[in-house]
Amino acid sequence: MSQPAPIVSAQSVRPDMTAELMAKTGLDDDVLTALVHQFYGKVRADPMLGPVFEERIADWDAHLARMVAFWSSVALMTGRYNGTPMRAHMNLPVTWAHFEHWLELFRATAAETCTPEGAAYLIVRAERIARSLNMAIEGFSALIPGATREGGDET
Ligand code: HEM
Repeated sequence: MSQPAPIVSAQSVRPDMTAELMAKTGLDDDVLTALVHQFYGKVRADPMLGPVFEERIADWDAHLARMVAFWSSVALMTGRYNGTPMRAHMNLPVTWAHFEHWLELFRATAAETCTPEGAAYLIVRAERIARSLNMAIEGFSALIPGATREGGDET
């Protein structure tokens, strides 16, 4: 019995793989757009994380579009994002506690917007990336004291 072919709405450099990932996770452009918009709605209202973002992001529409492209690349291998996340986080005045809280909000939003499979799939990836961003920040601030949170100077 043949299944109808999944509709691939996301432009992808690897359409076959993207179609398979979409079918297995239930994730697509619409779901990722809802996730990203709802997640940053929570982040902006959050007393711990909100100020860190508000001080640095002038154009929220551009940030949200970039983050949808990022998650589309990470989750569905569309290749739509080609930025430098490490560089964007190097100088942030954050500790692992900020990342843990970021993950709490992300887990809650994923549960609200995705299928259970899709949420679990995204959460594992978010956790890995959060750990690697935090390790990079820690390594950077050990090498260049004062450049990040450990210097106590947020500029
Ligand atoms: C403590 C938690 C975090 C904080 C405070 C934070 C903050 C920020 C800020 C302020 C920017 C904008 C930078 C700029 O435009 O100059 C940014 C960009 C970005 N963040 Fe985060 N972030 C956090 C965690 C994460 C995590 C866990 C991920 C991935 C799972 C992530 C992915 C990204 C990406 C892809 C960009 C866009 C980078 C670019 O292409 O310019 N962030 N973040």
